[in-house]
Amino acid sequence: MLVSGVEILQKAHREGYGVGAFNFVNFEMLQAIFKAAVAKNSPLIVQASEGAIKYMGIDVAVALVRTLSARYPQIPVALHLDHGTSYESCVKAIRAGFTSVMIDASHHPFDENLKETKRVVEVAHACGVGVEAELGRLMGIEDNISVAEKDAVLVNPEEAERFVSESQVDYLAPAIGTSHGAFKFKGEPKLDFERLLDVKKRTNIPLVLHGASAIPDSVRASFLESGGDLKGSKGVPFAFLQEAVKGGINKINTDTDLRIAFMAEVRKVGNANNSEFDLRKFFAPASEAMTKVVAERMDILGSSGKI
Ligand code: G3H
Ligand code: 13P
Ligand code: ZN
Repeated sequence: MLVSGVEILQKAHREGYGVGAFNFVNFEMLQAIFKAAVAKNSPLIVQASEGAIKYMGIDVAVALVRTLSARYPQIPVALHLDHGTSYESCVKAIRAGFTSVMIDASHHPFDENLKETKRVVEVAHACGVGVEAELGRLMGIEDNISVAEKDAVLVNPEEAERFVSESQVDYLAPAIGTSHGAFKFKGEPKLDFERLLDVKKRTNIPLVLHGASAIPDSVRASFLESGGDLKGSKGVPFAFLQEAVKGGINKINTDTDLRIAFMAEVRKVGNANNSEFDLRKFFAPASEAMTKVVAERMDILGSSGKI
């Protein structure tokens, strides 16, 4: 059943577990994600970026989610706009049927971020839709980073407290050292868990971890086996994801792992038979591999069995 992101994340916040928010750009990815949720009896957040919406068409993105949620009515699912860049983009998503939106004005000064978030909250709440905002910059933190540099880039807990109370936003993404994509850390992986605990204590709302792909060994091995190159890549270790959930993260944004797992299988089929051109021969194993990654993540984050 399609529900508001608030419903899914408030429960996760109350009970102390994490829900993966999985990005999709086509039917095959979405179906793979739903199959994992069904296998694991897990609540679900599926999310589309503005780029994904442009690629699929907003009507198709919503129709795909509505159709699969009708097929699997036992799964509570929220459809979330990932990194909405403007008020207009959020309103379009709400009108089209999204049940959760992110207004990402984190690159603007605090007051402007707050003002833009308030505008989105007003319209979203009138429609029963949840809102996410972000504070700080998504950047990996180096081992030798100074306190001042850290403070300039990562979330400021005092600001987070004021931001949440004034904006009435439903969930907040605090920058604590992750970054998007496959190259997250130059040295050893490092996140600022102390800062996370402080933000959770001061805000007491569901928190969101962006850039949460792990690039697990099995996914990396599969991509390399297919002839792919991941030199220099580093994800967020599973143990860090679990510590983040313990520290109050409830929504865990995951895209890169899905792309790598999916494309490894596509490449393998092509390598094995260079005269193959039946799309289904490529996409069926790719989707199956993705389901395994998502299902494993549900176990790790603690959402398995939570419906
Ligand atoms: O945070 C970004 C997501 O991974 C979506 O990326 O803009 O390439 O669709 P995209
Ligand atoms: P990854 O690139 O780590 O998968 O992060 C995705 C994300 O944060 C989407 O908003
Ligand atoms: Zn993100």
